[in-house]
Amino acid sequence: MRVIIKQDAAQCAKWAADYVSYKIKRHHPTPNKPFVLGLPTGSTPLGMYQELIKQCASGKVSFEHVATFNMDEYIGLPPEHPQSYHYFMKENFFKHINIQTKNIHILNGMTRDYEKECTEYENAIKKLGGINLFIGGIGTDGHIAFNEPGSSLTSRTRIKTLRLDTIKSNARFFDNDITQVPRTALTVGIGTIMDAQEIMIIATGRNKAEAIKHGIEGALTHMWPISVLQMHQHGIILCDEEAASMLEADTIKYFKEIENRTD
Ligand code: PGA
Repeated sequence: MRVIIKQDAAQCAKWAADYVSYKIKRHHPTPNKPFVLGLPTGSTPLGMYQELIKQCASGKVSFEHVATFNMDEYIGLPPEHPQSYHYFMKENFFKHINIQTKNIHILNGMTRDYEKECTEYENAIKKLGGINLFIGGIGTDGHIAFNEPGSSLTSRTRIKTLRLDTIKSNARFFDNDITQVPRTALTVGIGTIMDAQEIMIIATGRNKAEAIKHGIEGALTHMWPISVLQMHQHGIILCDEEAASMLEADTIKYFKEIENRTD
């Protein structure tokens, strides 16, 4: 696992965007060989999206042959609902870059047949040859996508009931009214994320410090889903100093020293 510790959220955003651009360019994507990105919503990736929008506008990177798969979507929110992840992605990223609509994939939370929707999502990922780089945030409880503690570490795309803590945390996007937050969501599974060639998890802020500690120094356990990254051959945790603040001093020194020699 690579652990990259930057000073603050802005530096994480810049590093993440530069890395995504670099990976896209190195892939030399074409219509038949698109670069396939897994993408998160939430507040953490916003800075990275803004930076990528700038890089796209200046011609540093093109999304013309990039395909995307979002991690999750609430059940019951139509795409035009301001808190749906369809809306979030369109407003915060897709409408500002040169991505082709046909290459955008987001689970349909309005479907009546959840099982079919999830199976088709998994199949669509396979059809494009798998995900090249899956980017994610983490919850304070270590969840990745909507895979809450206790989720199977080999889970696939499916419907999940959200924990009260997650509902409370997400209420900030729903006028702080927890009754407005959907109770269920469709989400890629931990197994789906782990199948990606590479995974980059971004964490910023003091409230992510405990999850980062468990993910890097703790044992592999379904109670901290982030810890599954220890089983991936190409996992990156990108965090700021606040999110890294509960790590042992030696752990920080160790990973910083490696990065100083490789970056
Ligand atoms: P956040 O959410 O980026 O808004 O902190 C991350 C998550 O819950 O996965």
